[in-house]
Formats: sequence, C-alpha cells, structure tokens
Amino acid sequence: MNTLLLHCRPGFEGEVCAEISEQAALIGVAGYAKGKPASAYAEFVCTEPGGGERLMRELRFERLIFPRQWARGEFVALPESDRIGVLLQHLAELPVFGSLWLEVFDTNDGKELSNFCKKFEGPLRKALTKAGRLVEDAGKPRLLLTFRSGREVFVGMAETGNQALWPMGIPRLKFPREAPSRSTLKLEEAWHQFIPREQWETRLSGDMTGVDLGASPGGWTYQLVRRGMLVTAVDNGPMAESLMDTGLVTHLMVDGFVWKPRQPVDWMVCDIVEKPARNAALLDDWIGGGHCREAVVNLKLPMKQRYAEVKRLLQRLEDGFAERRIKVSIACKQLYHDREEVTCHLRRLDR
Ligand SMILES: C[S@@+](CC[C@H](N)C(=O)[O-])C[C@H]1O[C@@H](n2cnc3c(N)ncnc32)[C@H](O)[C@@H]1O
Repeated sequence: MNTLLLHCRPGFEGEVCAEISEQAALIGVAGYAKGKPASAYAEFVCTEPGGGERLMRELRFERLIFPRQWARGEFVALPESDRIGVLLQHLAELPVFGSLWLEVFDTNDGKELSNFCKKFEGPLRKALTKAGRLVEDAGKPRLLLTFRSGREVFVGMAETGNQALWPMGIPRLKFPREAPSRSTLKLEEAWHQFIPREQWETRLSGDMTGVDLGASPGGWTYQLVRRGMLVTAVDNGPMAESLMDTGLVTHLMVDGFVWKPRQPVDWMVCDIVEKPARNAALLDDWIGGGHCREAVVNLKLPMKQRYAEVKRLLQRLEDGFAERRIKVSIACKQLYHDREEVTCHLRRLDR
C-alpha cells in the first residue's frame, strides 16, 4: 500500500510528477515519481514504510493542482476468471471499507474498460459486502479500484474527506441547453470545486453583482445569471440574445484589462485567452484593489514548465497580498473541463 496513484488529464503526467515530488520533499517523505506520457496517471513510489499514508494524511487533496484523484495502494494482477476471489484475498490484509468506487484512467482504453467495470461492479459489491469487507459507512475509508486492464487493477484507498469529489475526479454535469457555449461547464465545475454546496445560497446569491471579463458569447455569464445576479459582461464580441433578454446583463465593449467597476462587485470571473501572468495580474488587481470579493480566473498554460509557471504565479499573488496585509484564500485546480489551463479561485477574507 505504499504507492500513491494520481489520476490526471492525459498529457499532464509530468506536472503531476513535479508537483507530488515537491510536496513529498516538503514534508520529508522519501520516494520517486513516474508517469508515462498520455497515460492519464502518475505514481509516487514511496521508499519508506507508511510513506503513502503519511502523504495522504499531511497533504490536502484539494490543495493539489494537477491530480484529479488519488489513492494509496498497489497494482495487483488479476486472473482471467475468479477476479473477485483474488481481490478478496488481497483485501483480507486491508481495513473494512465504507464505500467503493470503480475507476479507470481518462484514456480511450479506459473508456472501453468502463463497460467492463459497470458489469463487474454489481457482483463485486455483493461479494465484498457478504465477506464483511464493505459496509456502508461514510466514516470509513473508500476502496478505490482503478482498472488498467481487465487483468490488472490498482487496489487503493483514500479517506472520503480528502479525495476527489467524484469518481476519477470527473463531475457529471449536464450541459444546460439554453447556455450559449460549452465553457459554461467550466464555471459550474469551479463552483462545485471551490464552494461547499451548503454555502451556495449565501456566496452565489440572487442579490449579488458580477463582472464577466471576456464574456462573449456568454457561457460564464449564463451561470451568474442563473444564480440571479446582475452581470456586467465585458467583451468586444457579441453576447447571446437570450442572456440580454433576461434584463440582468449589461454588455460593455471595452478592454477587460483596463475597465473597472465604479462600485465593488461580489464576483469577477475571467476566461480571456491571454498570457497566464496577465490574467494572474488581473486577480491581484481586482481582489487586492477591493473591486470584488471573490473571483474565478482561468490561466491558460501553453508553455512547457506548466507546474513551475503556475506555482510561480500563485506565489507572486500570495507574496503580493501578504506584503499589503490583505487576507485572501487562494485555490487553484486543473478542472475536468479545463484543457491546457487551470482555474484559480480567490476570496477576500477580510471584507
Ligand atoms: C474563451 S472566450 C470566452 C468564452 C466565455 N467565457 C463563454 O463561456 O462563452 C474569450 C473571450 O475573451 C475576449 N477577449 C479577449 N481579449 C479581451 C480583452 N482584452 N477584453 C475583453 N475581452 C477580451 C474574446 O473576445 C473572447 O470572446
């Protein structure tokens, strides 16, 4: 149980390796990271006993940027028949689990395997329950079985309060038919990721105001409007008529890097495709300058050293706020709906 398995977007294995290696070094857990390009996962092999457990105890999953899901455990070979018997044998050494997720990697092979998982899950669940290895209890760790093929599975575990919110870190969000663009799902996922559901009524409420920089055609504005907010949409491009018809949107054809509201607003969101340093500077400007209380901003990452660049920008933001004694919570995650990008959420804590 001493390897940490980390799922990610295919192509970001290097970022996950860099990130987990740095985090492990910071807390003094010895080991090495490896990840095959385009495999959609990386492993951190701990070279000291209990290393995997310590990593998961001392790191908060939501603070990691590139991993979509994690589990500590090991790969186990499965026979052609009686896979359940072999799994039961293996699980005899492990604690009783409170829930079970079957997972695959986010690749074409993984997609094909998910049909196998669907068929396998029912009989497996039944057998584990019957053997007393699985009882429904949210307080107990979750058993995460990640299939690499029908013959090989990573038998892993994670504490339910410190792992992805959804199997494989993939939220099943329904595209709202009235939304003007698919990127609407990015902002919806950001809210699920960064704002606890029980706080939505107070932090995303209908009496709030929002600004959407780079708003056209309006996928993100749609999400703010859906919560009942009054929105200023900034973009030279056109906004969907359906949004303008709500009467909740003011469209300004001005430069989003220059324009500021006369009165502070509750939310600023920004999806402009620009150099990440420029979008990060917007965050500093809006949050630090008191123009908004919370912000969601996308950082596009076309360069090679993507983890290093994100870290550098987040550090610069943190240092800048600390220097001005401004209290801000900063979170950053590569969301499932993000491509070559990450999403940052900042919130002023002192206003
Ligand atoms: C990826 S699109 C935004 C999509 C939008 N979030 C949605 O969900 O429909 C980026 C937008 O940023 C706008 N943009 C680029 N530079 C800008 C700037 N300096 N000020 C305002 N908008 C800008 C572009 O016109 C484009 O419409």
